[in-house]
Amino acid sequence: MKLIHTLGAVAAAALLAAQPAWAQAGAKLKVGFMLPYTGTYAALGNAIENGFRLYVQEQGGRLAGREIEFVKVDDESDPSKATDNVNKLIKRDQVDVIIGTVHSGVAMAMAKAAKESNTLLIVPNAGADAVTGPMCAPNIFRSSFSNWQPAYAMGEVAAKKGHKKAITITWKYAAGDESVAGFKEAFEKNGGQVVKQLNLPFPNVEFQALLTEIAASKPDAVYTFFAGGGAVKFVKDYAAAGLNKTIPLYGAGFLTDGTLEAQGDAAQGLLTTLHYADGLNTPRDNAFRSAYAKTFKLQPDVYAVQGYDAAQMLGVGLNAVKGDVSKKAEFAAALRVAKIDSPRGPFTIAKNHNPVQDFYLRKVEGKENKSTGIAVKALADPGRGCRM
Ligand code: PHB
Repeated sequence: MKLIHTLGAVAAAALLAAQPAWAQAGAKLKVGFMLPYTGTYAALGNAIENGFRLYVQEQGGRLAGREIEFVKVDDESDPSKATDNVNKLIKRDQVDVIIGTVHSGVAMAMAKAAKESNTLLIVPNAGADAVTGPMCAPNIFRSSFSNWQPAYAMGEVAAKKGHKKAITITWKYAAGDESVAGFKEAFEKNGGQVVKQLNLPFPNVEFQALLTEIAASKPDAVYTFFAGGGAVKFVKDYAAAGLNKTIPLYGAGFLTDGTLEAQGDAAQGLLTTLHYADGLNTPRDNAFRSAYAKTFKLQPDVYAVQGYDAAQMLGVGLNAVKGDVSKKAEFAAALRVAKIDSPRGPFTIAKNHNPVQDFYLRKVEGKENKSTGIAVKALADPGRGCRM
């Protein structure tokens, strides 16, 4: 009898030892949000967190059977603090996965730290081309876009409208530079020419001198990347200078996403390209929008969708590895064949771990970025420099 008991205990101990540490303890899955909660991108960070939490809540607070615990760091969209900030999550909090961030410069420092420590990273906004280019890695994914993508779509649209000479204006950092490069590539391939590239430091909003220069140059069109608080100010200043009556303004859709309440009349009629739009009127998007509005008493925007889809992607990967985040190769393999059922419309994940998705041409009508249809279907980032 005693022998049977001992054998039983030995077998039970062996079984326990075969399980990963988190399963033995029934430990929660630690998710670290590294997002801007202050500064020009604060609203974007909050929308991403809301979207992520909504999906987890819809799954009963668990992904792949694991309860989720959240920790947060405000990255202030400050690249000079990014390495310290991401190490708070990696080293101090020892998170299982990092969700972040909005700003491309901060995201590049995060990608470097995630790659070196082999920590799972899902980028829910920042478009830095390098993250799914030269810095791509098996443990790094994006639920949003590359800076090249919406810009390339707009370059095609603007050229096909017959515009020949364009001026670009943006913040001087990775997102602005890469957005302009994507626009220029498509615009010039289709017969247009970018005649001048104007910049100001991030997150400055003293646009007046640059607007005067645009007025004097009289291009056929202006292309811009601005987002958040800066986008609100730019659209208002462009209209206040009377330029909206004379020189058509085009942008990556961030220019008017989550900002229309504050931009009001100044934004009416603006055309932008983005992987999300109002008025899609699909059952999937309608369900998402009403759940979001009910939960947060707010209308969702592209950032909320990207946060929601970061959680969906985490769920797909975790299901494949039964909650064991140490199995990075299996986690990645599942995502590479997945179809993500996004409110934006279904998307797949390319070899460089960036979404392959449709880009809508949107027109501002009242408080909405109304879809006028798809500008470019299933657009994949070229993934230049990604080897894995
Ligand atoms: C970026 O820095 O990559 C960025 C920031 C805000 C946006 C889009 C891209 O809305």
